[in-house]
Amino acid sequence: MANEKKLFIKTYGCQMNVYDSERMVEAMGGAGYTTTDTPDDADMILLNTCHIREKAAEKVYSELGRFKGLKAEKPDLKIGVAGCVAQAEGEEIMRRQPIVDLVVGPQAYHRLPEMEAKTQQGAKALDTDFPEEDKFEKLKGRPKAKRGPAAFLTVQEGCDKFCAFCVVPYTRGAEVSRPVERILTEARDLVERGVREITLLGQNVNAYHGLSGGGDSWSLAKLIWELDKVDGLERIRFTTSHPNDMMDDLIEAHGTCKKLMPYLHLPVQSGSNKILKRMNRSHDRDSYLKLVERIREARPDILLSGDFIVGFPEETEQDFQDTMDLIEEVKYGQAFSFKYSPRPGTPAAERAVIDDATASERLYRLQALITQQQREIQDSMVGREVSVLLEKNGRLEGQMVGKSEYLHSVHLTAEDAQIGDLVRVKIVKSRTNSLAGELV
Ligand code: SAH
Ligand code: SF4
Ligand code: F3S
Repeated sequence: MANEKKLFIKTYGCQMNVYDSERMVEAMGGAGYTTTDTPDDADMILLNTCHIREKAAEKVYSELGRFKGLKAEKPDLKIGVAGCVAQAEGEEIMRRQPIVDLVVGPQAYHRLPEMEAKTQQGAKALDTDFPEEDKFEKLKGRPKAKRGPAAFLTVQEGCDKFCAFCVVPYTRGAEVSRPVERILTEARDLVERGVREITLLGQNVNAYHGLSGGGDSWSLAKLIWELDKVDGLERIRFTTSHPNDMMDDLIEAHGTCKKLMPYLHLPVQSGSNKILKRMNRSHDRDSYLKLVERIREARPDILLSGDFIVGFPEETEQDFQDTMDLIEEVKYGQAFSFKYSPRPGTPAAERAVIDDATASERLYRLQALITQQQREIQDSMVGREVSVLLEKNGRLEGQMVGKSEYLHSVHLTAEDAQIGDLVRVKIVKSRTNSLAGELV
């Protein structure tokens, strides 16, 4: 191998991009690259991008603009754009920002080393194919480095739902599930390297239907039950789920599988039937509320999290109130909310947008309600005993930070404990965005 080179990678967007960035680091490891925390001493800069809202996509160009000086000083520096902006805009990126040497879509990054070699010859490299081969399989043989206690594992990619506002079906392609055995092998490997909690990832993770060695198709619940048997793996989570794919066996698993954590991200986007229809969400307000009821019957203490879009075309104050009512009814422990952003190529982008100040004001009200609910649920944890997976040291001597079953951050003093320990903790205090606890 030639001398060691340095890769600076910056990740935007969802957890699937976080997972993909790890895989890209491994792929580039095979081409002689190690990572660096600063762009200044990098031989290659890679931005793993997100296209979900206009702001996310524009950030990429302003970031690239900042690397112009660096590239002028170091002509050998290679600059690459990966992820969903790469997929959506392709060659256009190189036209708009000529310092870019390489553009790689989210389904093609196992070909990164070849592409990098091409840029070393002074050529530009572009690959936004949706190839047949399993990119994850191509990336096997990663170094057996020790890992932190919590890891992501992508099991499903892509989306066939085509919500009217969303770019994901175009940037990530059709729904594809990875085969069962490959996931199990990867999970066992993670556990050997110190992982105790795995979050199964997919844009529609609960639509998982991967093939097993026996040739039959497995549901996400069946996969979870198989992972439940893996010694040393203590916790299982999954995200993101679509309400229509919340199958009976998965709901039931929330009540019966001890390793499956009582937390569910179940985006609804809006509480208005009119808007849900215009969003092409294929579920309505009632079906969502009934689903929540069934999930809570199976697991009464489950913490629910959601996604909301406000200011969608034709959203009236009444439609917005329907969303607020739905939030009041569900009570979320966590939520992500966004002002609608028209995205090129999506059906909703053709429709007239609503007044921006109105949308901002609604977002403000919605976030205030969510913050209040979040706080109430957090406060209700005080006095309760939870289990905490210790993930890192805190700022103070002897202090450690971890996550409870409900994904709350918990700070505690634990002199003898180690990162990766699962400890019982009594919650003593609720702070703005975290809890404080004591070992029991
Ligand atoms: N597959 C997941 C979400 C993927 S995108 C799901 O269906 O739940 C994450 C979130 O971004 C969405 O849930 C939605 O709330 C938000 N989002 C997507 N497109 C958007 C747009 N055009 N404008 C504003 N928010 C958007
Ligand atoms: Fe986007 Fe809808 Fe698919 Fe989620 S389900 S990724 S919001 S199209
Ligand atoms: Fe963004 Fe692509 Fe994820 S658009 S949210 S990085 S799937």
